[in-house]
Amino acid sequence: MPTYDFAVGQTNPQTFPTAALQAAAVSAIQTESEALNRYPGGKGHAGLRQLMARRESEREGVPVDPEKIALMNGSMQAVTLAGQALMTQSGDIVITEKYTYSGTIAAYKGIGLDMHGIPVDEEGMRVDLLEEHLAALPKKPKFIYTLTSYQNPTGVTMSRARRLALIELARAHDLPVVEDNCYGDVHFDGPVEPSLYALDPDPRHIYIGSLSKIFAPGMRMGYLLAESPFFQQIVGRRFDAGSNYFAAAVLAEFYKDDLWGHCQRANVVLKQKRDRLLAALDAALSGVCVWSKPTGGLFLWLRLPVDIDLQTLKTAAAERGFYYADGQDFNVEGRPVHYLRLAFGHVPDEQIDLGIPILAECIARCRKSNASPDFETLFDDQADRIRR
Ligand SMILES: Cc1ncc(COP(=O)(O)O)c(C=O)c1O
Repeated sequence: MPTYDFAVGQTNPQTFPTAALQAAAVSAIQTESEALNRYPGGKGHAGLRQLMARRESEREGVPVDPEKIALMNGSMQAVTLAGQALMTQSGDIVITEKYTYSGTIAAYKGIGLDMHGIPVDEEGMRVDLLEEHLAALPKKPKFIYTLTSYQNPTGVTMSRARRLALIELARAHDLPVVEDNCYGDVHFDGPVEPSLYALDPDPRHIYIGSLSKIFAPGMRMGYLLAESPFFQQIVGRRFDAGSNYFAAAVLAEFYKDDLWGHCQRANVVLKQKRDRLLAALDAALSGVCVWSKPTGGLFLWLRLPVDIDLQTLKTAAAERGFYYADGQDFNVEGRPVHYLRLAFGHVPDEQIDLGIPILAECIARCRKSNASPDFETLFDDQADRIRR
């Protein structure tokens, strides 16, 4: 049976630069043999840090100091270390979007953080509701964790106005903000919204980037950008003797003469996949579901009619070889929600074309009525209320 795997977020193997990376590896082994015999230490490969600083600087339009960058074994290490450094005891509160990356939920709950989710809409976190939420909390949160661009799982991007409001609110409440921008380079169309650190050089801004989403997750290469004292507090919590120096050396060699070429090539194809998926959804599910129209990233968020039993749909889809990620996995409250996430970056074109009608058939079969759904938008208060 053919399978249609929209479940796990991955890069597109079609645009993986095998030959160029092979050449970079050969060269890195020759030039770095001495350094490879030593432990890399806290910040990691200087050449790659300089390149990532340049990349950030060119994207964000502000100077970035490579000495404030530490390479990490994937951005997940930075997410986890930041959480550990900013909390003091189990039960400390972190503010996040209501729907956020399942890995972050696992890591933060695993280290004892109490996650409070703020509703999300097409402009990202509802910063307008944040003040009210803060006032209702039993104690001051330790920090805010936010996915500002092409959010996982919803695909939405925080508007400029919300970013500025978030910066103001964080300043007023003296809260560090961990901005996870690991999808930042996976951009298709529309404006590139500036990162918080580019909008405002506040030392409370902790920024996380990654090569997992634009290059390949198997490289395990992410980075942290932060000011003193957070930089030292976060990097000081790592006890792994530094990130993979070989991977860093190969990537530094790969990027040294062309910082953006691969990114541009990969994004052209990812955008085509996004467009293909949107067209397939329009043809198969208009009037039944609504979904996000991401301007970057690897995910689309789809709202299901409430008369669907979520487990029945999951089983019916799996029986036809169609896999997706449950909305519940990304809900910080852990409750089922009538949403699902479709990852499209790695899915071959014909699987998009053939798979979405299968999903639509399963949805039609699993509905308990033929009524029009009682929603027209992707997000509303009702989406939260119904399930309480
Ligand atoms: C929002 C977010 N942060 C961090 C990660 C971790 O990625 P990596 O450690 O591969 O950089 C992911 C992976 O899906 C993610 O979606």
